Amino acid sequence: MTRSKSVTRATFDDVMVPVYAPAPFVPVRAEGSRVWDSEDREYIDLAGGIAVTALGHGHPDVIAALTEQAARLCHISNVYTNQPALRLARRLTDATFAERVFFANSGAEANEAALKLARKVATDRHGLSTDKVDIVSFNQSFHGRTLFTVSVGGQPDYAEGFGPLPGGITHIPFNDLDAAASTIGPRTCAVIVEPVQGEGGVRPANPAFLRTLRHLCDQHDALLIFDEVQTGVGRSGSLYAYMEYGVTPDILTTAKSLGNGFPIAAMLTTEPLARHFSPGTHGSTYGGNPLAAAVADKVLERVTTRGVLNGVRERADHCLAALRAINGRYGIFKELRGMGLLIGAELSEPYAGRAKDFVAAALEQRVMLLNAGTNVLRLTPSLIVPFADLDEGFRRFELAVDTIVAAGVPRRKGEAVV
Ligand SMILES: Cc1ncc(COP(=O)(O)O)c(C=O)c1O
Repeated sequence: MTRSKSVTRATFDDVMVPVYAPAPFVPVRAEGSRVWDSEDREYIDLAGGIAVTALGHGHPDVIAALTEQAARLCHISNVYTNQPALRLARRLTDATFAERVFFANSGAEANEAALKLARKVATDRHGLSTDKVDIVSFNQSFHGRTLFTVSVGGQPDYAEGFGPLPGGITHIPFNDLDAAASTIGPRTCAVIVEPVQGEGGVRPANPAFLRTLRHLCDQHDALLIFDEVQTGVGRSGSLYAYMEYGVTPDILTTAKSLGNGFPIAAMLTTEPLARHFSPGTHGSTYGGNPLAAAVADKVLERVTTRGVLNGVRERADHCLAALRAINGRYGIFKELRGMGLLIGAELSEPYAGRAKDFVAAALEQRVMLLNAGTNVLRLTPSLIVPFADLDEGFRRFELAVDTIVAAGVPRRKGEAVV
């Protein structure tokens, strides 16, 4: 068999399992919030690798942490502990409600650990034959792609075809106090919620809703799990969004920005809950790997500085002002929402369902952004994106908007021509 040495976007279709539909170019290098493709075209990155590159691309401190640790000790396994993981766990517990940390490699795995811990707590407390096993989750939520987390997520399409699915999971409407009050009860072992639903359309929880979930969990001896995979590590303007809300969970999961591009995730919890896991009950070969932990420790050190967190609010205001101005000229948005630098722009009726068209048109103008479902554009830039890059990014985005608006609104099936 002959194999070509050069790879292009077309190679993807030849060699990859087709679970993604990547853009028609291949990024090859990046710096800060600018990315270059294999043809040396330059893009402004307002997507941040889907809320991952919180400190931008190629941050010198992150590179230094990575290369120093790579030369020292990359991997040793959890048969031994290691200094970077211990330092990172100390930093996470010092900075949050948590007293104990479990490291994993992805958001899905951190959530898997959280859900397993919740079931284990319930069976330890109530016996193996307990019916206190129900997990309450919310419509449109997203918690990952393992079979358990995709079943817990509130987007049934993602779980279709993979049955039989794990049982004992109930989905109810997000931000619905009555549904929560009538569903969370003695059989509930855990409630899992994103403080701001990310993939599901950038929908912030109402503060009263999270307070009510906390109250109902306390009332029914259920654990409250905050999935902060997308909202965490400074994106909300606080280190974690629970701090913005003033509602403390029993378990919190974090990933994405924690590694700024190096895979690492963590499940944070309290000491009494952590005690329900013992050696052998859960684990991961790579979890808490020294290389990943050294990077994450540096990322957290940088993100937790006041300058970075205050900068998130300033940049968020700047983005919202730019989007409002574009909307004033084109009327393409129905609502702007989100928290900090997790920003959603819901398209107005004539453009409903066309979020991917806007993302593609933006790429044509060399600016990277995301959709969240079919109706919402999503921005998750670096937390330290330069203001000049934001301005240039929105200038290019407006050109993209202009091409879509100038092309007119395509007629929907069955619509009369007037
Ligand atoms: C809120 C939330 N939870 C979990 C996940 C899954 O994380 P990962 O893709 O790292 O498994 C995501 C990913 O988008 C997410 O946004």
